Amino acid sequence: MVHYSVMKEIAIENLNIKDDGVYVDATLGYAGHSTEILKRIKKGFLFALDADTQALEYSHQKLSSIASNFCLIHANFKDLKMELNKYDCKEVDGFLFDLGLSSPEIDDKTRGFSFMSDARLDMRMDQTQKLDAEYVVNNYTVFDLTNIFYKYGEEPKSKLIASKIEEYRKKKKIETTLELVEIIKASVGANYFYKKHPEREIFQAIRIEVNKELEAIEQALEDAIKMLKVGGRICVITFHSLEDRVVKNIFKKYSDVPEIFKGMPDIPLEYKPIIKLINKKPITPSVEELKENSRSKSAKLRVIERI
Ligand SMILES: C[S@@+](CC[C@H](N)C(=O)[O-])C[C@H]1O[C@@H](n2cnc3c(N)ncnc32)[C@H](O)[C@@H]1O
Repeated sequence: MVHYSVMKEIAIENLNIKDDGVYVDATLGYAGHSTEILKRIKKGFLFALDADTQALEYSHQKLSSIASNFCLIHANFKDLKMELNKYDCKEVDGFLFDLGLSSPEIDDKTRGFSFMSDARLDMRMDQTQKLDAEYVVNNYTVFDLTNIFYKYGEEPKSKLIASKIEEYRKKKKIETTLELVEIIKASVGANYFYKKHPEREIFQAIRIEVNKELEAIEQALEDAIKMLKVGGRICVITFHSLEDRVVKNIFKKYSDVPEIFKGMPDIPLEYKPIIKLINKKPITPSVEELKENSRSKSAKLRVIERI
């Protein structure tokens, strides 16, 4: 399995790992980041979550060859608090989120994430989940599809595309990725299609809806901030502006003093910031990394520390 771990060194460095700390990799994937964490915590413990069973299987073997002070959990990270509580883990020294999909997920033609190869319309990160892309495309109303395409794909021709999907599915169920690409092309016309590539945005939007990605990030970060020990850190790597906005807003909510208390000598305890931003602007990949891995190009790393 080949997955290039994006911003690996800089993310690990920013976690400020302590040898006896408890760390959570919320997006285990192919264990690139987890391997580095595990090597640095001889007396500590690593919990790592992933929704994808293939990633968990592969990574279990990989990490077992390094150490045994870890536990892999098959779960959506939106439930991280509940999952960690099952192991009596209530406080954590550091969380890492490397959002989105792994390269094996994108490249596996049977998973349906890519608009470039034909596959069943699936797009589930968790192969045990019921909701998939085929259901969304064939059952959601035009109104809902339009909203999803606008909100999660920021595609200006969302309504046109949603209407064409409805027209098509009245005659035949939409079953494959390339069938959907053809419908998108037919709805916007070849000129717009080849210039703007709306299929990219539409596939992103459907994927976000199928996996409820933005809601999961929000819930997980809310809980992670509260479980973090003083001095502990959260590192989040995002890959598109929608993800980054969610992360930025939550970090702002817990690091900012509300406007009415700004400049006051005494701020009520419940309004005091509980985290600080380690960098005002997100960190981006180095020129060397961009040369090595083109999928890093949209990556942004945000880091906070519990105070
Ligand atoms: C970019 S990859 C992580 C790669 C990993 N850091 C590495 O170095 O190999 C993201 C992983 O997170 C998983 N994932 C994404 N969103 C998730 C969620 N809400 N809950 C659980 N796992 C999720 C994906 O299945 C994928 O395996």
